[in-house]
Amino acid sequence: MEALEALVSRRSIGGLTDPAPEDAILQRAFQAALRAPDHRLLRPWRYLVIRGEGRVRLGEAFLAAGVEENPELGETERNRLLAMPLRAPLIIVAVMSLKVDDKVPEYEQILSAGAAVQNLLLALHAQGFASMWRTGWMAEHARVLSALGLQPGERIAGFVYAGTESGISRIPSSLAVEDFVQSWPQA
Ligand SMILES: Cc1cc2nc3c(=O)[nH]c(=O)nc-3n(C[C@H](O)[C@H](O)[C@H](O)COP(=O)(O)O)c2cc1C
Repeated sequence: MEALEALVSRRSIGGLTDPAPEDAILQRAFQAALRAPDHRLLRPWRYLVIRGEGRVRLGEAFLAAGVEENPELGETERNRLLAMPLRAPLIIVAVMSLKVDDKVPEYEQILSAGAAVQNLLLALHAQGFASMWRTGWMAEHARVLSALGLQPGERIAGFVYAGTESGISRIPSSLAVEDFVQSWPQA
């Protein structure tokens, strides 16, 4: 897909099914992610790829976190948490590995991590795969971070659910550029 076409046509797709992006596709997508702008080259990101049974383990971590927050959690909600990671055949956990640096504040590193996730989404899309960037409270819960082996200073930028589009999804409304872009100073 031509680069500009990929940029303007990307959209989030929640309904995902097999096939998942294969290794060669993922390799290219991670190469794109690793080209995110990065002040002082701190590399404030890393990724975990979760497939198959790994998604079941992630659901168990979501459930453990949910039960920790509310030990009275009902069966419906328990099952919902367990099933969340099964919404796609593959999940990429985008981890922000924030560094202490005297010139690059944390927020710049978070911006770099966000740019990297966008590169990842776009590279998947350009290669014909669908994805959706998700977070939710579980992305900040200590139980989930610990289950995933995150270290002090690491946070989750997102769970990128990836696969093949299942069914028909919504077409995003197109925004008018002039509503968001002004010349400065104004005439
Ligand atoms: C950091 C971040 C976290 C997000 N978390 C969620 C989420 O947990 N659940 C959700 O439905 N959408 C979430 N979104 C929004 C979707 O990924 C998506 O951008 C939105 O539905 C708009 O669709 P579009 O990307 O096709 O324009 C998140 C977006 C960002 C940037």
